[in-house]
Amino acid sequence: MRPARRAAVAIAAGTLLTGLAVHGTATATAPVTEEAARTLSVTAPAQADTLREAAAEQGRFIGTALNDALLGNSAYTAIAGGEFSSVTAENAMKWGSLESTRGQYNWAGADRLVEFAAANDQQVYGHTLVWHSQLPGWVENGGFAPAELREIVDNHIATVAGRYAGSIDRWDVVNEAFNENGTFRDTVFLRAFGERYIADAFHAAHAADPGAKLFINDYNTDGINAKSDAMYRLVSSLLADGVPVHGVGFQSHMILGQMPASYRANLQRFSDLGLEVAVTELDIRMNTPADPTRLDRQADQYRQVVDDCLAVSGCSGVTVWGISDRDSWIPGVFPGEGAANLYDDDYRPKPAYWAVLDAFGGAPGPDPTDPDPTDPDPTDPDPTDPTDPGTPAGCTASYRVLNSWGGGSVVEVSVTTTTALSGWQARFTLPSGARVTNGWNAVFATGGGAVTASHVAHNRVVPAGGTVTFGFQADTGAHAAPAVALNGAECARS
Ligand code: XIL
Repeated sequence: MRPARRAAVAIAAGTLLTGLAVHGTATATAPVTEEAARTLSVTAPAQADTLREAAAEQGRFIGTALNDALLGNSAYTAIAGGEFSSVTAENAMKWGSLESTRGQYNWAGADRLVEFAAANDQQVYGHTLVWHSQLPGWVENGGFAPAELREIVDNHIATVAGRYAGSIDRWDVVNEAFNENGTFRDTVFLRAFGERYIADAFHAAHAADPGAKLFINDYNTDGINAKSDAMYRLVSSLLADGVPVHGVGFQSHMILGQMPASYRANLQRFSDLGLEVAVTELDIRMNTPADPTRLDRQADQYRQVVDDCLAVSGCSGVTVWGISDRDSWIPGVFPGEGAANLYDDDYRPKPAYWAVLDAFGGAPGPDPTDPDPTDPDPTDPDPTDPTDPGTPAGCTASYRVLNSWGGGSVVEVSVTTTTALSGWQARFTLPSGARVTNGWNAVFATGGGAVTASHVAHNRVVPAGGTVTFGFQADTGAHAAPAVALNGAECARS
């Protein structure tokens, strides 16, 4: 079923709670007094504070590539559901994932993704039906006569696009059809059918899912060059022939400092054909380890991509290729490069995240002069601003082990702040290097026992006197309550 496209709402907490409904008492409580509500209505920023809300206000989607195998990770899942309004299967909908053996489909990963999207009110970007890569050996090397291959391809498109018909907003029908010089890539499909395999694939996809917008997608077509010229000629002729092509995807796997100057003009010329354009696989890689200067330049480049999309009326949105640097495909494929995504290895937003949020018109991020913009800290230059996440918090905290067994426990933490906050992080240390394995009402990062619990969208703003409650499961048994610090200041125990 097609997910409803109402205005995006942050539902990260709902996502986390689905697996933890048993802990029904552990809900966020931020008692807002009448006076605090009045204050908030004056001081609280009206701007969106998630990527998806901000993008929706611009009429755009913001997507991510989802790895369904990571959906058990609470930090990953909270960000995936709370920050993004579209998801693309990073691998699960590729031919090699779905049908590695002829006639035996494995739908598990793709189904999980579609269910996740429906539960989180997200669009689904289908990726991809016809592609030379991640193609099962039995297709690639089967030595089929054209008539049989025709049947195989048609059947694949009908089966996959048919199964998800109504749930998919956009399909990459054909991926990476071109060489760098603009000639057609030599593939098993080109060899069997010539270039008409592309038009045929679009007709087949349209027949299987008439509601989906059908895209052709490629890399290194981001600026005006021989390859994007070839793409332009192809889609122009497909349109002239009445082929149901609706959009062009620009993967935009970029290198830091190498944004094509003609990026916007290139999107514009395709948009001028009446096609939708979308940035489909954005990441911006750099030599690792990253440093603050490069991360700031990366933020500028991410901002430029969003600005360019917003400047082009046919640009429907931007998908980033993965959530955190930890999950990104880049280090495995480009050795020595990485740090390409919006979140760092610990799922903390990077300067690039704040730049994208700001470019979409969302709430401004931490003060740029803050030495550590990913970390609300008490040395923030503007402690008088109650909406500044760096405001030091006077606080009290309770840390209660609700339940425990040999190797595990369920903990609830409530923190009451004396000052209003518009962003918070609570820190504490678990015994003997234990880890948070699951949680709710916060995004958790653990390392060597140290835990950082960061706000989620619905409890980011806390009025003076307000309380936030979050909870988690840890892989350690009963233990004494550690000290809890809020935005760098240790809280009194309550
Ligand atoms: C990549 C995935 O991110 C990796 O996990 C996988 O091993 C290889 O493929 N262009 C595309 C994407 O269209 O499907 C690719 O994704 C990245 C390049």
